[in-house]
Amino acid sequence: MAPTSLSPATVEVLDRIEHLFQLSNDRLIDITRQFVEDYNLGLGEYNKAMAMIPTFVTGVPDGSEKGTFLALDLGGTNLRVCEVTLHGDKTFTLRQQKYKVSEELKTGEATRLFDYLADSVDAFLTEMGHEVTDVEALHLGLTFSFPVEQSALDKGVLLTWTKGFAARNAIGKDVVKLLQDAFDRKHLHVRCCALVNDTVGALLSRAYTSGGCFLGAIFGTGTNGAYVEDISKIKKLGDSTSLLGMSKMVVNTEWGAFNNSRSVLPSTPFDNKLDRESINPRFQAYEKFISGMYLGEITRNLLLNLVDASPPILFNGNSTPILNSHYGFDTAYMSDVENASNLDEVQKVIVERVGFKPEDVSLDDAKIVKWACHLVAARAAKLSGCAVASVLIQTGLAKLGGGSSSGDERFSVGVDGSLIQHYPNFEDGLRASLRVLVGSDVESRVDIGLAKDGSGVGAALCALQAVKQEKTLER
Ligand code: GLC
Repeated sequence: MAPTSLSPATVEVLDRIEHLFQLSNDRLIDITRQFVEDYNLGLGEYNKAMAMIPTFVTGVPDGSEKGTFLALDLGGTNLRVCEVTLHGDKTFTLRQQKYKVSEELKTGEATRLFDYLADSVDAFLTEMGHEVTDVEALHLGLTFSFPVEQSALDKGVLLTWTKGFAARNAIGKDVVKLLQDAFDRKHLHVRCCALVNDTVGALLSRAYTSGGCFLGAIFGTGTNGAYVEDISKIKKLGDSTSLLGMSKMVVNTEWGAFNNSRSVLPSTPFDNKLDRESINPRFQAYEKFISGMYLGEITRNLLLNLVDASPPILFNGNSTPILNSHYGFDTAYMSDVENASNLDEVQKVIVERVGFKPEDVSLDDAKIVKWACHLVAARAAKLSGCAVASVLIQTGLAKLGGGSSSGDERFSVGVDGSLIQHYPNFEDGLRASLRVLVGSDVESRVDIGLAKDGSGVGAALCALQAVKQEKTLER
């Protein structure tokens, strides 16, 4: 609700905006139904908007896996290199180092980006005091959190970049080869033997530590999910003889690309502006409503609309260089605003983060900024529930509208990402829409648990599976 203590004229404007962000239960149901339809289209044919990528991961771990592997994680806020030791008793130890990826590397020549990845692994090994002269190369799993069409555990071509990456000459190429070539150019004794999306990593690592998991989901810089599907339903695989005997496979949905036509997603002018000005207009529609990379920007568009209104509704018509710059209003600021316990604190956050002088931010301004942050984030949380519900429905664990199974089976979801971890009440909002979509009985049996260090542990688990497969083939 728009804060009613404001003038009636202001309340009227805010109410009109609020109406644009509303999501009725019927709308949530339509979105979820469309999700399930798109999953099945994507499972049937290649090149559909919902990529539904077969990952060639045909089983989930049970916690007994053992070994030490390197993992390289690209696609979140930072680049990470880790050394992961799986102890075989559902526990692991992990040593890691984070590295920054500059805008120049993200948008320059791909070989430079991959050389940088190899340099980071080299620096990490030196720091950890590793001898890389051993006869057997170190095995590395690559967590590469972009849409990659996989053809084996260690092979996959990049379909498109997302989340602000646009390095040249990478699309259509095998990313494992790009990385291995970079290692070889540096004579690094490291072999990339597995490729995994961060969602798959979340699923595998949650299964490793908790004994089971049906969905791995990321609600962070981007959003996406991977789940365990019946191979018989992945029609586009045809009769792959190499999969004989296997019945399940993890599918990376790439749900961030859901509904690029925006036929069911409730676009506002603030979303349209964001999309138009993004480096991938008309793509990743769902991700642009939900993920950490974009929520701050939607909010910034909304706030500036109120600054520019005549008469002005916010900050007396003034702005700051931060508020004026593209992506200047970070999603983390929204989190700070929503975490603030009173309006004085909100005022302080605005002063510190957005660069206003204290005297230029009234309590009414603070109220409006808080309202705007909540509006954008609550819609994101509700929409996130649609994706989770659609996987429950797709896998036969629930029915749209609820009223299906009763029992005591629990459904484990492994999650990772800044929003689900840190944004106030994000999970509550997600659960509220889950209740609408699959009923409170099923919702109450969904365990949403952090896939701690999912990208690192998931990559290690995949590297282990790859090494095992190679050994079987050698015999
Ligand atoms: C983007 C990527 C996807 C990744 C997600 C979360 O949607 O395309 O591969 O899983 O971000 O990081």
